[in-house]
Amino acid sequence: MDSISAHIATSTQPATTDNRLQILDATIKRYQYQQDTLIEVLHKAQELFGYLENNILLYIAQSLKLPPSQVYGVATFYHLFSFTPPAKHTCVVCTGTACYFQGTQAILANLEKYAHIHAGETTSNGEFSLFTARCIGTCGIAPVVVFDDTVLGSDTPENICDRIITQLEQS
Ligand code: FES
Repeated sequence: MDSISAHIATSTQPATTDNRLQILDATIKRYQYQQDTLIEVLHKAQELFGYLENNILLYIAQSLKLPPSQVYGVATFYHLFSFTPPAKHTCVVCTGTACYFQGTQAILANLEKYAHIHAGETTSNGEFSLFTARCIGTCGIAPVVVFDDTVLGSDTPENICDRIITQLEQS
């Protein structure tokens, strides 16, 4: 095992129970170590690990025989890649036109105040991330908020906000 593999194995879970690195290896192998599959490999890594740690980026660079600066450059160029661990709960407030007129700005403001963060941020304890989206395609039930895997809508901004805060406080 090389030093990066050893570092990853010791910095996450024991290699015997964490086979994510092997799955990533299998993906890279399936792509025949082609350097132009970097984005697909980064995607797989994020799917497996939840976000792109430094040591994972270095591991991918080494596996694809690419300069680390190039791997970092590509990963940071695309907004879909994340470099911090995902929060326990994620909330996406729709700020599209239909939702705006149904009061999602008030929901957003209340959640920002409640969690002491701004949209796009995660609380320091890693419990809650708050995001906005332009239109998530369910305007008919505006105001729309996606809390974890649940789409909330067809309700007042106050009720939606209360449901989210209640769930956060119960978890
Ligand atoms: S504007 Fe919010 S779902 Fe379309």
